[in-house]
Amino acid sequence: MTAFDLNDPDFIANPYPVYAWLRDVAPVHYGTTNDLWLVSRHDDVLAVLRDARRFSSDLGNADDNPFNPALRSPRALSRLLDRLPPARTLLTSDPPDHTQLRRKVAKAFTPRRIAALEPRIRQIAEQLVDDLDGDLVRDLASPLPTIVIAEMMGIPAARRDDFKRWSDELVDGLLTGGSRLKMARSAIAISWFFARTVRSRRRSPGDDLISLLTTRDQDGDALTLGELVNFCILLLVAGNETTTNLISNAMLALFDRPDLWRRLGEDPGLASAAVEETLRYDGPAQGLLRITTTEVVIGDVTIPQGARVLPLLGAANRDPRHWADPDAFRLDRPSNDHIAFGSGIHYCIGTALARLEARVTLETLARRHPHLAPAGPPTRIQSPVLRGLRTLPVTVRPATVP
Ligand code: HEM
Repeated sequence: MTAFDLNDPDFIANPYPVYAWLRDVAPVHYGTTNDLWLVSRHDDVLAVLRDARRFSSDLGNADDNPFNPALRSPRALSRLLDRLPPARTLLTSDPPDHTQLRRKVAKAFTPRRIAALEPRIRQIAEQLVDDLDGDLVRDLASPLPTIVIAEMMGIPAARRDDFKRWSDELVDGLLTGGSRLKMARSAIAISWFFARTVRSRRRSPGDDLISLLTTRDQDGDALTLGELVNFCILLLVAGNETTTNLISNAMLALFDRPDLWRRLGEDPGLASAAVEETLRYDGPAQGLLRITTTEVVIGDVTIPQGARVLPLLGAANRDPRHWADPDAFRLDRPSNDHIAFGSGIHYCIGTALARLEARVTLETLARRHPHLAPAGPPTRIQSPVLRGLRTLPVTVRPATVP
């Protein structure tokens, strides 16, 4: 096996055997089909992520995204997208821009601010769990993070459906092969929406996330309108689908191991361990993208300057050089230093929120529906980098014995 396509449905269905081959045989592998250098061993992935100088996140034009053939868009649409606010965003900038931006937004995601959300997140989870009606993704894992971030941003409930649709279409177009036209329309609609919201919060601030982001920091610095709009959009793109997938992947792993699901029902306190193990075992972000700013040698392989490198978080998190028993899903790992949230300067800003939402959701499910069971095969999101489910049919009541 020397060439394989990252978009191959078989790879997407189960990438883990390929990861094992890569780690053992070709830990730094150039894949011609996707024009990407795949890095798969734990220590190498960590080294790439912690070296932002040689492995840049400044990816330039989103059209250049290699993961998704659907992204090679018609020129007219690319021009349309160019009219959106300039692309200085946290995720795709390098220092010093990144350092400045990160300092300005970090205040919104402190552990204390996030922990204070727990009672409200629990209420939302309980409501959704009570209304669960056949599909765990549609009814629970997908709406929960969107409702939470919309409330954090002070978006009126009446706009919630628009907000959810825009957010879904953006993520679909960017990462999972959805319609490019819908994505462009949603990008424009949501940019306008956030621009208007930012202007009105500047005039009359509330105690929501957007108002907080519009305030100046100690140095008197404030985000520009374009930076604010981009950051709000980034929160949707980086936070919603990933958290949905974390909840779905966790439930899939637990359904595959009914003994563990039963234990969670007896002791919902295990939810936190289940969340961490899901992040390691089957994390929502499987690979990140970097561009080399210079020639780099990893092991005995030389990567040229300007190459696109894919550090495979999903492969690193199952590297037997780092983990005992890496292919087992266990709730009793003595420590779990997975890198599902990345590492280095771009380390996920939403970890506390994602963990809280996922833990509260699993606890609520285990308490209210200990007999929840799968009701048919799930369907998977067709992306090599975003791992999760489109649907997860479930049955709420225990099967009655005839
Ligand atoms: C960055 C994963 C949830 C906001 C990242 C990165 C990863 C990641 C791997 C690093 C990207 C890179 O190095 O290129 C995840 C996973 C999540 C999750 C697996 C859920 C399970 C969230 C949530 C939010 C969020 C809930 C906010 C609402 C961000 C932002 C960045 C980021 C803003 C960019 C940070 C920077 O570039 O400095 N996330 N994330 N994420 N995440 Fe998350």
